[in-house]
Amino acid sequence: MSTQPSPDLSVAVGGLRLKNPVLAASGTFGYGTEYQDLFDPGGLGGVVVKGVSLEPRSGNPPPRICETPAGMLNAIGLQNVGVDRFLAEKLPALRRLDTAVVVNLYATSPDEFGELAGRLAEAPGVDALEVNVSCPNVKAGGLAFGTDPTAVRRVTEAVKTRAGRRPVWVKLTPNTADITLQARAAAEGGADAVSLINTLLGMAVDPDTWRPRLKNVVGGLSGPAVRPVAVRLVYEVCRRVDVDVIGLGGITTARDAIEFLLVGAKAVQVGTAHFVNPRASIGVVEGLRAYLSQRGLGRVTDLVGRLRQD
Ligand SMILES: Cc1cc2nc3c(=O)[nH]c(=O)nc-3n(C[C@H](O)[C@H](O)[C@H](O)COP(=O)(O)O)c2cc1C
Repeated sequence: MSTQPSPDLSVAVGGLRLKNPVLAASGTFGYGTEYQDLFDPGGLGGVVVKGVSLEPRSGNPPPRICETPAGMLNAIGLQNVGVDRFLAEKLPALRRLDTAVVVNLYATSPDEFGELAGRLAEAPGVDALEVNVSCPNVKAGGLAFGTDPTAVRRVTEAVKTRAGRRPVWVKLTPNTADITLQARAAAEGGADAVSLINTLLGMAVDPDTWRPRLKNVVGGLSGPAVRPVAVRLVYEVCRRVDVDVIGLGGITTARDAIEFLLVGAKAVQVGTAHFVNPRASIGVVEGLRAYLSQRGLGRVTDLVGRLRQD
């Protein structure tokens, strides 16, 4: 019996070489170690850590998540332990996971972003930085930056200047009229890749209490409900901007991930799906391997940008 060699899942994306194209998305996978009892995160291409800021943040008051049809709303407000505790307490365990460690950054000015990038870039074990200029749940520095191409470029430049040889990914918001403007601005600022999408602005109201379901009133929509929006935006950026793209938004299975690869994403992230199935991201890796084997494809890169429109 002839045995087929296992397909090559490795990808080069945004200045990194990853063992496979599947990463856990920021804010949905803690600091990487929380899922260790369920599966080995070393099987993933990478882990993107919850957004880290210079100072610790307690986030928004509850309720700050609620379920919606085929998705969820969140208004966590970037709760995190701050960069000092992240470096001292979280990073050492993350480094032992045998997967790429991408640190998601949040700050309120280009200078602060630069300072944070400098602190993280010096730390051994940080493989890349992902700049969050797209959080809908904070008053300063989130969407205010992410929708303005000039601000996106300035923040990217500030991070890139301080990041040394660490690659810089810029996470873009879908809450804008033409996302290619922000993607191009990030590329001009020196971004090694753009990640898209962050959450879509949304709101839900309880008809019994007549109150918003989130204390913050509005929040970010994620999960399968947003996937067609995300695929369309990834398609637009891949077609029109010369920059590596990491696609995310509603990915639950390998077949969902393949949609993003076919329209041109070089890697994907799995987020909200973890709250339904904590093994979702490793399931996507296994599903991709099986899909490639069944179709006799040798490499996952054989899928990238291969959308057929004939
Ligand atoms: C509870 C929660 C927390 C999140 N926190 C962050 C964050 O800290 N930084 C960030 O860039 N994105 C954050 N996101 C956005 C996700 O990383 C992702 O971009 C978005 O949810 C869309 O992907 P998904 O539908 O697979 O979840 C968060 C999402 C959720 C649901």
